[in-house]
Amino acid sequence: PDFGTCPRKSTVAGGGTRSRQWWPCELNLAVLRQFSERSNPLGADFDYASAFSKIDVAQLKKDITAVQTTSQDWWPADFGDYGPFFIRLAWHNAGTYRAIDGRGGAGQGQQRFAPLNSWPDNANLDKARRPIKQKYGSALSWADLFVFAGNTAMENMGFPTYGFGFGREDTWQSDEGIYWGGEQEMFPEALNNVVRYNGSTDFTARADQLESPLGAVSMGLIYVDPRGPNGTPDTKASALDIRETFGRMGMDDEETVALIAGGHAFGKTHGAVKGDNIGPEPNAAGIELQGLGWKNSFGSGNADNAYTSGLEVIWSRTPTKWANEFLFSLLNNNFTLTMSPDGAPQWEALDANASYPDPFIKGKFRRPTMLTSDLGLRDDPIYNNISRTFLNDFDYFTEKFGLAWYKLLHRDMGPIARYLGPEVPKQAPLIWQDPLPKPAYTTLADSDISSLKQQILAAPGLNVSNLVTTAWGSASTFRISDKRGGANGARIALQPQVNFAANNPPRLQAVLKALKGVQTKFQASGKKVSLADLIVLGGVAAIEKAAKAAGITLTVPFTPGRVDATQDQTDASTFAFLEPKADGFRNFGHGTASSLTEEILVDKAALLTLSPPELTVLIGGMRALSANFDGSSTGILTSRPGQLTNDFFVNLLGSYSTWSVVNGTNEELFQSTDSNGKVQWTASRSDLIFGSHPELRALAEVYGSSDAKTKFANDFVAAWAKVMDLDRYDVKGHRSAY
Ligand code: HEM
Repeated sequence: PDFGTCPRKSTVAGGGTRSRQWWPCELNLAVLRQFSERSNPLGADFDYASAFSKIDVAQLKKDITAVQTTSQDWWPADFGDYGPFFIRLAWHNAGTYRAIDGRGGAGQGQQRFAPLNSWPDNANLDKARRPIKQKYGSALSWADLFVFAGNTAMENMGFPTYGFGFGREDTWQSDEGIYWGGEQEMFPEALNNVVRYNGSTDFTARADQLESPLGAVSMGLIYVDPRGPNGTPDTKASALDIRETFGRMGMDDEETVALIAGGHAFGKTHGAVKGDNIGPEPNAAGIELQGLGWKNSFGSGNADNAYTSGLEVIWSRTPTKWANEFLFSLLNNNFTLTMSPDGAPQWEALDANASYPDPFIKGKFRRPTMLTSDLGLRDDPIYNNISRTFLNDFDYFTEKFGLAWYKLLHRDMGPIARYLGPEVPKQAPLIWQDPLPKPAYTTLADSDISSLKQQILAAPGLNVSNLVTTAWGSASTFRISDKRGGANGARIALQPQVNFAANNPPRLQAVLKALKGVQTKFQASGKKVSLADLIVLGGVAAIEKAAKAAGITLTVPFTPGRVDATQDQTDASTFAFLEPKADGFRNFGHGTASSLTEEILVDKAALLTLSPPELTVLIGGMRALSANFDGSSTGILTSRPGQLTNDFFVNLLGSYSTWSVVNGTNEELFQSTDSNGKVQWTASRSDLIFGSHPELRALAEVYGSSDAKTKFANDFVAAWAKVMDLDRYDVKGHRSAY
């Protein structure tokens, strides 16, 4: 058949013009529906930790080593060793992480899916992703295998790694929640890429203007352009891009130099031929290519004709052995700007001896070469100092690279309780792992829990509204993206969280003081309770009271055992990223022209792994409980706040009164009037979206029905308890939503 060009008209399987094309600005709930059980072949009961426990890790290493050192004719290994290739695979999986929203990273095995499987920067990693998995099946996730292969390869090439934790669970579709940028073109076509720099073309002064939360300079790249900004071989400007992008991964200058100099101690780049010989990337390639892409039609199409980045560089005399040769070359050679066979700028030490081995021809040697980005480590004064220190002290460099590599691979794994396998370091957790103290006391008994609930409710200054907001503020910092945040640790009482505007600091301080009073009194009886548990228990007590006031008796699930972190255990600078710009659940803040308030609400719900019904019922319940951050009446569509009723939905859907924008609020605040023109309610975009969005309205209708009072309360409590426990990886049987 003649398939015509893409996009083509299909009359089946979701073809045709869809709502999203008619109304591109309609709020998109897809992120709340992804990673559903329907996509997961392993089923909801699959427990990766127990499946993994059956793996013989020593045997796995032997298997990886055999693959690493057995060159295949279909993709011959440089120097007979796929080690560097595996390292690049691990690095490109982990390297998409950005600390701002915690998204990206190696944790979900996302490189199997588009767009990452087809990013220009991931060229030819399709070949590295093929071997090994079949033997181990579901007991070994792709996500773990990708990074463990790189880690093992490094050890095989003589690098003493710091350790390794398994525990990354695969996902089964592309993560639609990640904002990768707004460009319409992929690198390297987008030579004049200015979209994510607000139109600025001045790459010597724009690095810090990189759009938030992005962690790379261009669509399709993991970090920076190896040729220099926009393909311009400006080494100092390249260093600025490196500092900004690695900084967004939570890496400081020393870690950054360690990573690049450590990584490029191995392997080479590939650009032996012209780029116009290269076929489409996997997602655009023919069905017969079976998920492989970048078919190279020049000569053998591989080995000494290989084309990946279009740059042809070799960094070291010993590219398959851990040594200080990269930094030696960087700081001891004079590099001159040259061109790769594909015409890309790169650097060569024209006056040096040819002493760097050819990957395929024994006895043939090349002159030292470098990428523009590599020379950034020489030409930026701060990087230069660090590079010199590393060159002069190989042991120190080895130690720092080991730590930075470990951080790179594990940065998005969350609590150390998630780490599996025999190679988890025995040392104390590192600061970026958000350490928690070991519980110094036994878990609360049921009788303690009920007596504490009474004491909390009786304490002066505590009420349903402020207990609920505080518990929410504490638990809702959790984000599934990198599993940071959450109620455990009571970091809401520490910097910087204690001062998050969404937490209403004066009100929060008063609540914390009152809860600490309860804690002290309880401790006087010879028992102990953590502040973290008390904060969550406060929410539990408040909700049970509010339900009772509405005529419903229920028990809110409570899982004790939280501990309190200290300020020293809290990396304030990266915790600052957990601060919500807007939190529709508490009617705090609002959006911007590009990300509307209700979109930020949905994004937050996605990071909390909420489904559309859970989002809906939580909003309705929190409005009933008067849980706005500032105690205001916005969206509190009830005449009896503090009771767990479904009034929010009843009044939102049942009233035919007209809503209008409150002047001067930029369509953020609305009011409704009764038949006499008297203002009845005020509401935010986070409130009214439940009446205007067709799918959210359908859910609101369920909860607003006359037969739904108990269902509403029960569903609210279930969703609430889920949020409170999202970070409880320390509890047996706890599962991530993905
Ligand atoms: C290869 C760029 C950081 C490890 C490459 C290639 C490029 C590149 C263009 C060649 C790909 C090819 O043509 O085959 C960069 C840039 C970086 C960076 C611009 C940041 C500024 C890192 C880091 C690591 C790393 C942090 C690991 C810790 C490697 C390895 C190879 C490689 C091992 C060799 C792969 C092979 O031999 O097949 N890099 N890289 N790179 N990179 Fe990086």
